[in-house]
Amino acid sequence: MHDVVEWLKENGNLKIINEPLDVELEIPHIAYIEVKKDDSRPILFTNPINRAKNIHYDMPVLMNIFANKALTEKIFAKHPDKVAEGIDKLLKLKPPAGFIEKLKMIPELFVLKNVFPKRLNKRGACQQVVIPKEQVDLDKLPILKTWEEDGGPFITMGQVYTQSLDGQMQNLGMYRLQQYDKNHLGMHWQIHKDASHFFDQYQKAGKKMPVTVGIGGDPLYIWCGQAPMPHGMFEMLLYGFVRGKNAQLVKSLSNDIYIPKDVDIVIEGFVDPEKMRIEGPFGDHTGYYTLEEPYPIMEVETITMKEKPVFQATVVGKPPLEDKYMGWATERIFLPMLKPMAPDLIDYYMPENGVFHNLILGKMKTLYKGHAQQFMHAFWGVGQMSFVKHAIFVGVDAPELEDDIAITEYILNRLDPSKILITQGIIDALDHTANENLVGGKLGIDATGSEVESTIETPLDDATLLQKFQEIDKSILECKQYFTHTKNPICVITVNKTASVMSDIEKVYGLQEHIKVLIIVDKTNNDIEEPYMLLWRVVNNIDAQRDIITQPFIIVDGTNKSEVDGFNREWPGDTFCTKEVLDSLQERGLIDIDETFIKKFGLLPFN
Ligand SMILES: Cc1cc2nc3c(=O)[nH]c(=O)nc-3n(C[C@H](O)[C@H](O)[C@H](O)COP(=O)(O)O)c2cc1C
Repeated sequence: MHDVVEWLKENGNLKIINEPLDVELEIPHIAYIEVKKDDSRPILFTNPINRAKNIHYDMPVLMNIFANKALTEKIFAKHPDKVAEGIDKLLKLKPPAGFIEKLKMIPELFVLKNVFPKRLNKRGACQQVVIPKEQVDLDKLPILKTWEEDGGPFITMGQVYTQSLDGQMQNLGMYRLQQYDKNHLGMHWQIHKDASHFFDQYQKAGKKMPVTVGIGGDPLYIWCGQAPMPHGMFEMLLYGFVRGKNAQLVKSLSNDIYIPKDVDIVIEGFVDPEKMRIEGPFGDHTGYYTLEEPYPIMEVETITMKEKPVFQATVVGKPPLEDKYMGWATERIFLPMLKPMAPDLIDYYMPENGVFHNLILGKMKTLYKGHAQQFMHAFWGVGQMSFVKHAIFVGVDAPELEDDIAITEYILNRLDPSKILITQGIIDALDHTANENLVGGKLGIDATGSEVESTIETPLDDATLLQKFQEIDKSILECKQYFTHTKNPICVITVNKTASVMSDIEKVYGLQEHIKVLIIVDKTNNDIEEPYMLLWRVVNNIDAQRDIITQPFIIVDGTNKSEVDGFNREWPGDTFCTKEVLDSLQERGLIDIDETFIKKFGLLPFN
């Protein structure tokens, strides 16, 4: 893949938009809407501008490279399941018993020759143009501002290359980078991530940390950057394994970090461990803004690039987005790596509206009592899987995990409050719901057993049930029941919240004969008719320890929390598109969306 744009024209149905478009909101909004479509395409914006700063950039912006499953598979040049098969084989290698066995192993070991990256002793194509320190100006790059309330422009597809203090470990991580000015970037490596561990080492030693950021080149670099490789394993090993070709690296010009020779743009510099700066807010892949927090900053020493660079970028926000397809490949490829710790795991699936760590489904063979609980603890204890907030395990007889309706029916028919585990553990740095940062509630549901006996004693229709709710509390505004044909129908109500929902929840206990599972959400910005976004909201918005009770029936408080709930952190807002920008793009024929689309994906606020 020498020229990604040419390759995408031939293989990816690349859309090319030549109209001048602003890097602030316009380009990101178009890409955001495109990737939500069923037949989404990658887009090349050939004429990026910044009206506020009066800049016409001299390089195009390429977005939605991982626009769909078919294209993602083409980028890998094979189905991710095939990559997983290769990894599985390697993990199961046994010492050969004799000469014939040794010979049989050769093809399997042969793939390893491609794994180790090669360090070249020459400059790469990424260093054709060299911009020295005094001329460095990040404003020359078409860095996007995705959301109106973002704290500034952010590089969203940066490959961040770092190394440990002793130089023994290399790392590639995909972390967003806030542009502060002409030569400073905010390094949003979260506390659990590898680059943050390296940063600690430099900080303790009082030394500046070399960092090089690559943008562009083979899209597989960026996928490798987000892959949850175990600590200490350089992601370029995975690159070599997948591509069947060693990564070719060249040394940065102003520090010792090696980067792929064919990335489009290289930003080299150092992070001074003494200096931190407020990073954010930034509309994140959770669909919420992440709040302002101090993060390290990089001072740029040099920028190098290809003669004709392409600026790769992505948009994160409410699902589905490009990270859905990257995440799909990750999920498939990492299945064999989960099996050594959970050998009876058959498959797992992270539904896109669970934004990865908020919901995971696992299919397993249960061999003993407590087996599913053992898996819950295993998942919550290992690597980035430990960020998972809600884990549901189903048995071998369960339907396909990706069959949303069938699997939900299966789970609801087996949902038993005595098989729900609520505990505490580590959570993703982006999580906004826990009472304190980084540690919060975990929910595990063991749905591996047989169907439960009990169901609703006296079912009611939505209107009658709403009436009963309103007799109890006038702030309950709507009621809709889902999966009423199962043993545990889900009743969703919306409220106009003015006080804590859970503090006097006993008032609805009298409805016990009509309800099995009650989910409460705010009326504002939630459409009771849109289960896709409701699931997104609820798994995002709860801390299981605080917001779920299981008796006398299951109640989940999915409302936003505030001081009325005794919640003292700031509750972030949703990522919403800017209406004027949508209207203007629509008028110019650059997008084509209707009210249904806007509601379906929660593009704009509503009451
Ligand atoms: C689009 C996208 C943006 C991301 N942004 C960040 C980020 O800003 N900070 C971060 O710590 N992780 C971010 N991640 C997740 C990391 O890339 C991921 O956890 C990766 O495995 C980290 O690598 P590491 O374990 O080598 O640190 C992002 C992932 C994606 C797909």
